Amino acid sequence: MKKLTLAIAATVMMTSPVFAGDAAAGKAKAGMCAACHGAAGISAIPMYPNLAGQKEAYLAKQLKDFKSGARKDPVMAPMAMALNDEDVANIAAYYASLK
Ligand code: HEC
Repeated sequence: MKKLTLAIAATVMMTSPVFAGDAAAGKAKAGMCAACHGAAGISAIPMYPNLAGQKEAYLAKQLKDFKSGARKDPVMAPMAMALNDEDVANIAAYYASLK
């Protein structure tokens, strides 16, 4: 399962060009994040961080670090694996745009 996820992530990364963040597209992709980070980027759970209003570049870096393994978390890392570079940019733009 982990290998499959990695293979899919690698394939997606190689085939998608990098775009500047599109918050509307990011919102559409952020549905699965809401379970832990809250529908408006404010988490209801003590150990799950708020994302609303966070710096865009920081969010993008954290997601890339979870993907690369530079930042480790057993809960969050698999979530980042499912995102390609375009998703990362869009989702970062979306959460940064929230108040
Ligand atoms: C199952 C729960 C869960 C889901 C779903 C989830 N996350 Fe997370 N996320 C976490 C946890 C827990 C952390 C804190 C990790 C740590 O302690 O390092 C985290 C951390 C983060 C961080 C770093 C925040 C910071 O302040 O450094 C970002 C960015 C993030 N998540 C984005 C996302 C995005 C985008 C999605 C959807 C694609 C998502 N998460 C889905 C649980 C989740």
